[in-house]
Amino acid sequence: MVDNNFKPAGFLDIPVPKGIDLVQAINDLKKAKNAIILAHYYQESDIQDIADFVGDSLALAQWAAKTDADVIVLCGVDFMGETAKILSPEKRVFVPDLNAGCSLADSCPADEFAAFIRQYPGHTVISYVNTTAAVKTLTDVVVTSTNARQIVDSLPQEAKIIFGPDENLGNYINSLTGRDMVLWKGACHVHERFSLEKILELKKKHPYALILAHPECKSVILKISDYVGSTSALLNYSIKSPAKEFIVATESGILHEMQEKNPDKTFIPAPPNDSTCACNECNFMKLNTLEKLYNCLKYEIPEIFISEEIQKKAIKPIQRMLEISEKLGL
Ligand code: 13P
Ligand code: SF4
Repeated sequence: MVDNNFKPAGFLDIPVPKGIDLVQAINDLKKAKNAIILAHYYQESDIQDIADFVGDSLALAQWAAKTDADVIVLCGVDFMGETAKILSPEKRVFVPDLNAGCSLADSCPADEFAAFIRQYPGHTVISYVNTTAAVKTLTDVVVTSTNARQIVDSLPQEAKIIFGPDENLGNYINSLTGRDMVLWKGACHVHERFSLEKILELKKKHPYALILAHPECKSVILKISDYVGSTSALLNYSIKSPAKEFIVATESGILHEMQEKNPDKTFIPAPPNDSTCACNECNFMKLNTLEKLYNCLKYEIPEIFISEEIQKKAIKPIQRMLEISEKLGL
């Protein structure tokens, strides 16, 4: 009998063997299965430490496209796993916990986005990588926060553009490029909730600290920031800058790599406005754990599947992004 109430869990919820050395076991499984572990900077530190490669959304897509591993375990959120599968359909792609969604991708349902696009004939559609595969099939070129500005700049000045789904990033790029892109009104619940007041209080206590912000933050936060950039751009800035203290307005997972690369510098997470916590975490990104990573590699669950029809359409705007990024040396 079919149990209509059965919903597959986003991960295999079984205990890992008692007393196991998880790091060693994961490395052994990885070797045995010719797997590669790719992790986003917002993952828990222990996952970043065990990953073969840690990077931002662009770098993860670039690695997924070029790896010769048979299996990719994408420690990030579901759209990152989907992007890897679209780019490497012959490989098996896993995300340790498929409940790891993205509020920004969720803010842009494909059917509503399609109706939105129909209102603006003759427009080039640019979508942020934080979208479902279905939205990518409606897109002319995908961007990430690392290359969005340059890709917009690469289009003719007279081009009419729809940009989605992140409104804050779209507004920021409009302000940098003087364009008037039509914006979808989506947002990331993590970057939206940084508190201007709390950041200014921190700045009073640390007057020499530079404020670094991700362009998914609201414009009031970007206006008071010393530097705005993608996670990898913020990391690189922290390495090159002679400053010794930084207030960081993006998901706090990036502080792990910042501290590692800059042991003599101090990184202070910017606080959100709606909690007593000092830092701002993406609850989706933090769903992945070492235990789930182990089970995922051992039992090969949960796997990402994309229909051939969607894969064939969605790969075009992603490849276009990768080609432009390569030309630009990004
Ligand atoms: P980047 O990895 O492009 O900096 O984007 C941050 C983000 O919110 C990923 O979900
Ligand atoms: Fe999505 Fe925001 Fe989490 Fe990134 S930080 S995965 S944009 S919800």
